[in-house]
Amino acid sequence: MTLTQPKRKLNQKLDLKLSKRPRRLRSSEAMRELVADTFLQPKDFIAPFFVVSGKGEVQPITALPGVSRFSVDQLMPQLERALNLGIKSVVLFGVVPEGQKSAYAGAASDASSPVNRALREARKHFGSDLVLMTDVCLCAYTDHGHCGLLKSSPKGLVIDNDASLEHLASMALSHAEAGADMVSPSDMMDGRVAAIRQVLDHEGFTEVAILSYAVKYASAFYGPFREAAGSSPSKGSSEIPKDRKTYQMDFRSSLEALREAQLDEDEGADMLMVKPALSYLDILARLRPQTTLPLVAYNVSGEYAMFKAAAAAGALDEALAVQEALTSIKRAGANLIISYYALEALEKGWL
Ligand code: PBG
Repeated sequence: MTLTQPKRKLNQKLDLKLSKRPRRLRSSEAMRELVADTFLQPKDFIAPFFVVSGKGEVQPITALPGVSRFSVDQLMPQLERALNLGIKSVVLFGVVPEGQKSAYAGAASDASSPVNRALREARKHFGSDLVLMTDVCLCAYTDHGHCGLLKSSPKGLVIDNDASLEHLASMALSHAEAGADMVSPSDMMDGRVAAIRQVLDHEGFTEVAILSYAVKYASAFYGPFREAAGSSPSKGSSEIPKDRKTYQMDFRSSLEALREAQLDEDEGADMLMVKPALSYLDILARLRPQTTLPLVAYNVSGEYAMFKAAAAAGALDEALAVQEALTSIKRAGANLIISYYALEALEKGWL
């Protein structure tokens, strides 16, 4: 091998006395592994699943390549697959047809909703081997697609925060009755953790935990999820607010994240979530020293779709990019990660 000489010769000798050489600890794969401090394990993942009614249903979601909605019978083998990979927890999202949606989102707390049927079936199949979590939010059940109920005001239709709490609490209660270990409110109404805790305790479900989506930003990265769950806001009338910015957080705010997290902890949350993950690693890192509760990060649908699109275009090595991104979420301070990549990444040995 011929080495190119530098074009210009220095007329002095470098006076190097390097005693500190960080590269020593990067000298081999074994050495790097020895000193690395962030490792992903299967139990770090919470696997998300979309559940629909019916039988034999496997509905691929165009915006989320590789992810499908499953009817309860088809979901069970998927939960088994997750369990066999070492995953300990799943979070279930219900999806109902437009005809079952209403202004009051009654289908959300129906004892025979897809999520509630899935909970009963999963409990029967897996006992307490799997931690069963559920998303608690009205957006997939309201005919207008908002996470809370709407009311008229002098400013037009607005979110009725306090009236929504009762509906969210009864949705959470129906999940507890169907066997959920943990309910996870993602609606961002003020006071919902306290409302849910009060109702669960009053009904004897003191053991059912709450994972609060405490720090949830109004994000452009939820698009594919809304296709998956049929939960885009502002369907129908032009009077209906077009976005979720009056309840989800403004991405220009950071101190508010700490306040939201503190409030939910005070209201009785057992775990806190930051969502999305990748554009909010700073928020995770800042929140980490504030709380001793487990922190969860949601690697959301748009983040997943971006990686899939980049990989399909040949712009990224998917395995390496996914490993790096998921590790960065843990490194930033998350104890647990919700990711659509969980099963695929573990199955293909990417982590
Ligand atoms: C429901 C909910 C959303 C997500 C999780 N729960 C959508 C939203 O707030 O519009 C997004 C998850 C994802 O994008 O993967 N409120």
